[in-house]
Amino acid sequence: MNSNSALSEIITDHIVTSPQKRITFAEFMDMALYHPELGYYSTRAVNLGKQGDFFTSIHLGADFGELLAVQFVQMWEILGRPVPFSMVEMGAGQGLLALDILKYIQQQYPDFFNALDYVIVEKSPVLRQEQQQRLQEFSVRWFNLEEIPSHSITGCFFSNELVDALPVHQFVLEQGKLWEIYVTTRQNLTPNPSPQAERGVRSHQNIEFVEISGTPSTSKLVEYFDLVGVNISDFPENYRSEVNLAALDWLSMVADRLQRGYLLTIDYGYIANRYYNPRRSQGTLQCYYHHQRHNDPYINIGQQDITAHVDFTALERWGERCGLDKVGFTEQALFLMALGLGERIAALSYTQQPISQLLRRRDVLHQLLDPLGLGGFGVLVQRKGLTTQEAAQALKGLSVPEQMKM
Ligand SMILES: C[S@@+](CC[C@H](N)C(=O)[O-])C[C@H]1O[C@@H](n2cnc3c(N)ncnc32)[C@H](O)[C@@H]1O
Repeated sequence: MNSNSALSEIITDHIVTSPQKRITFAEFMDMALYHPELGYYSTRAVNLGKQGDFFTSIHLGADFGELLAVQFVQMWEILGRPVPFSMVEMGAGQGLLALDILKYIQQQYPDFFNALDYVIVEKSPVLRQEQQQRLQEFSVRWFNLEEIPSHSITGCFFSNELVDALPVHQFVLEQGKLWEIYVTTRQNLTPNPSPQAERGVRSHQNIEFVEISGTPSTSKLVEYFDLVGVNISDFPENYRSEVNLAALDWLSMVADRLQRGYLLTIDYGYIANRYYNPRRSQGTLQCYYHHQRHNDPYINIGQQDITAHVDFTALERWGERCGLDKVGFTEQALFLMALGLGERIAALSYTQQPISQLLRRRDVLHQLLDPLGLGGFGVLVQRKGLTTQEAAQALKGLSVPEQMKM
């Protein structure tokens, strides 16, 4: 039996033993991505990078990490150069970003390097192992978020493309009411599904996963729309989308661990009224398999990534409830330009390099800026525990880039 069908059977067993023989889509996604032995992120199936299932800013070279490092140094200075200054990277993938950041800080900012306490929070055991191998030359510590004591961190929590990888609940609107999407199998489908309605069948080998709708598993799903200030009751029949409740739990935990400093979140997504919009009637859930994007989470189970865009309004507003004040929200292109990406592009005109290398490098830098791609990613900065004076100091990445000043 391949791992794909072994995991499908484990999920089926979980369905059979769950109340009403169904699980939420969030539970399905959690198992498909993070089952401790067979989930996508737990096995060698996880395949990140240019040749893999998907790539991120980090796979374009060291520029992204180096420019972020410039921002971290300024944060350290604003906080009065505390020792230690903890940088807590959450969801560190292959450890490439940590390597780029640490190398650059070591070379360029030795005082900051000596003050640094670099911590990685990584859920995948396989990726954690890869990170440990890659980062051997540096003093890095690994924890689960739960293991970090409350109010113990002075510094910056940060992540790139973590929140989109958290399991989401899915819902559908029927007759003006919100119904949650559950997953069951054809075999376990109850004969009289009312009020459940069978929503579609997606088969995988001999296991047929079936989506059904039912009353929400938690009142948090409906409350979420009060939080983000979107009235979905007027949206069209069968409007379907997702809600990332795990992101709120994650944020609560980060806010609790942070004593003084910042939270920097980079990901693809929208503010709530662009995210939940009648025109985006089927949500943002996407799967990545061998660099191909599609929207069927019920195939390649455990061998493909499943993601959903991030609702930045939810992070902002839930953050406020947890004591995290918004510092700013911008696009990655503007953020990196403000941190010096423009100077790096300009410097290409003076460097003596073979033309093919120059063109490749220019292409990489432009990809980080592409408004339809990585440049359009959201960058949200939140803070906690700063004095009024510290909070008044503008962050470099959130200021208007030099090139854009009139
Ligand atoms: C899409 S990958 C991004 C990796 C890397 N940051 C990058 O940009 O290339 C998501 C990462 O988050 C990790 N992850 C997912 N859920 C997590 C959680 N709850 N806590 C810590 N890490 C998590 C995954 O194992 C993986 O390393």
